[in-house]
Amino acid sequence: CRILVLISGNGSNLQAIIDSCYDNLNADVVGVISNNPDAYGLIRAHQNEIDTSCVISREGESREEYDVRLDAAISRYQPDLIVLAGFMRILSPALVERYEGRMVNIHPSLLPLYPGLHTHARAMEAGDSEHGASVHFVIPALDAGPVILQAKVPVYGDDTIETLSERVHEQEHAIYPLVVKWFSQGRLQMKDGQAWLDGELI
Ligand code: GRF
Repeated sequence: CRILVLISGNGSNLQAIIDSCYDNLNADVVGVISNNPDAYGLIRAHQNEIDTSCVISREGESREEYDVRLDAAISRYQPDLIVLAGFMRILSPALVERYEGRMVNIHPSLLPLYPGLHTHARAMEAGDSEHGASVHFVIPALDAGPVILQAKVPVYGDDTIETLSERVHEQEHAIYPLVVKWFSQGRLQMKDGQAWLDGELI
């Protein structure tokens, strides 16, 4: 299974997936694409001898124009699975539809709670006692695709955004590689807008 990871920043989820692929003969990270040339994740890719591309947005360019260039970069890797790992751009419906069922994202909340940004702050402000992360198939609506796997963490009274986000990140590094593994083993599918594992509705 050829895995392509899209990033914008640190790439700690990318790292977790790279590490997990060393003992998964079914899966290979064949490339990393970033919209940010300074993303630390690019260094992680180089350290692991993984090919990288940067697709940097141009002034005045529309989302659709950017996504045509992004799609050209994606196509060069012939991926079976596209993994969004902190890729901080919204994708146009045309691009998402082209890779339907072959694109996953990780979001730092217990979806459907808190789509969008600042999820940790929003969970704390709401007084939630639980928070977490969700891996889901990508559909055109933002952070709204069928959830594949979630991890929950407690929220403590003395948490800060940093302590809470660190707790969530730790869980992300466990659940994202697992989802990649399931997909690479042919066990995971999106069908009729829903996520299926081993032929059972999730
Ligand atoms: C993660 O919190 C993920 O949930 C969100 O972006 C962040 C990426 O972190 N989509 P990293 O770059 O993998 O460290």
